[in-house]
Amino acid sequence: MVGSVGNGAADLGANGNGKAPHLEQQPEEPAVALPMEMEPEMVEGEGKREVVMGRNMHTACFAVKEPDADDDETGEREATMASVLALYRRSLVERTKHHLGYPYNLDFDYGALAQLQHFSINNLGDPFIESNYGVHSRQFEVGVLDWFARLWELEKDEYWGYITNCGTEGNLHGILVGREVFPDGILYASRESHYSVFKAARMYRMECVKVDTHISGEIDCSDFERKLMQNKDKPAIINVNIGTTVKGAVDDLDLVIKTLEESGFQDRFYIHCDGALFGLMIPFVKKAAKVTFKKPIGSVSVSGHKFVGCPMPCGVQVTRLKHINALSSNVEYLASRDATIMGSRNGHAPIFLWYTLNRKGYRGFQKEVQKCLRNAHYLKDRLNAAGIGAMLNELSSTVVFERPKDEEFVRRWQLACEGNIAHVVVMPSVNIDKLDYFLRELVEKRAVWYKDGICQPPCIARDVGQESCFCSLHKK
Ligand SMILES: Cc1ncc(COP(=O)(O)O)c(C=O)c1O
Repeated sequence: MVGSVGNGAADLGANGNGKAPHLEQQPEEPAVALPMEMEPEMVEGEGKREVVMGRNMHTACFAVKEPDADDDETGEREATMASVLALYRRSLVERTKHHLGYPYNLDFDYGALAQLQHFSINNLGDPFIESNYGVHSRQFEVGVLDWFARLWELEKDEYWGYITNCGTEGNLHGILVGREVFPDGILYASRESHYSVFKAARMYRMECVKVDTHISGEIDCSDFERKLMQNKDKPAIINVNIGTTVKGAVDDLDLVIKTLEESGFQDRFYIHCDGALFGLMIPFVKKAAKVTFKKPIGSVSVSGHKFVGCPMPCGVQVTRLKHINALSSNVEYLASRDATIMGSRNGHAPIFLWYTLNRKGYRGFQKEVQKCLRNAHYLKDRLNAAGIGAMLNELSSTVVFERPKDEEFVRRWQLACEGNIAHVVVMPSVNIDKLDYFLRELVEKRAVWYKDGICQPPCIARDVGQESCFCSLHKK
């Protein structure tokens, strides 16, 4: 949040003439060199590179140096630091241009909020109880929470929530609420749930049962039922995915509820909906079943830096007020209540969220969701037309395809990979031009990687199903 809080859209040629005006106005070539980007140390093995665990990488960094005695007079230090920042900014513009793999909307302009960076805004404590730290943004936080509570159909006097540090914190909180409501409950989560769900189980020492998934990545409710029946004596706490990390699969919430009720768990279950990725998109997808507190769910969380597009990680967690009393306690020195995971909380984040929600509103988000889904179909169709197998779940903008052979290419486009598959998450900042640019490069590179026929594109049938795999065995 230093300097301009825009994302450099103008630098990316967003002024329509394809030029990069800000880049042209950059200061002269700085005297310092940007350290080479630190890459995780890898070992080669079976054509893939794996991160070497258990070792810190200290090959390159911006060192912190003690000021020289005469720095104030010469101004040298200030000049060096300005050069480092200018170079770093340039690298961010470049990396932003080639970003496709993470579900982050990089298209925003928060210039109007630059004036607030001089303040140490901290919302420590409960959003609904004023603490004695006065430099806070609770007014914005509660406004944002009200907006989400309306979206998920929970009355103002029946909900509780807070702006979290990220989607992970939302999951940690939602599962903690479930555990407090049912202290002896077992946590159920599909295998394709985000790792933060399993981390919660470890942190809270909860028994955790992994449920199988369909090829789409959706939870398999027959397996869920089987596993429930093996543990009939203990209540169930379930993490339902509103968009899985790798395949963007949306678990069938209605079927999960039906399975619980038909297995004899009425009033003995707690559902947390992990909507980190897709929680704010699904309300605007016509065919999708609703995520709503009119159904017997306990909490919903989303990430704020994903579809919404915030320049810092943040998220939203909403739960039922009646649950929160079970886990909170008063803290005298704050003159507030402790019901959050973290102590100090980023007071800038709610203002950024508030700003975007106000600017875009429901209609703006709806348009962006439709654009993302359209562009995701475009990408999938173009991949298929180029002879590359790809899968796109009906309610998703995550396009899954073969892992590119070359790690350099993976890094350049910042693709998230797992085994033989990679994905592109089509966010509002991913337009057709960017997709065409990516597709052109991918097709050109593949022609080189696979030109002599000795090496073949990987089979991805196990991950996405035979019909979505175009490997030599499954090509029609
Ligand atoms: C399904 C899902 N849940 C939770 C998270 C964690 O979100 P965050 O990165 O905001 O902590 C992610 C991150 O990608 C995710 O995909």
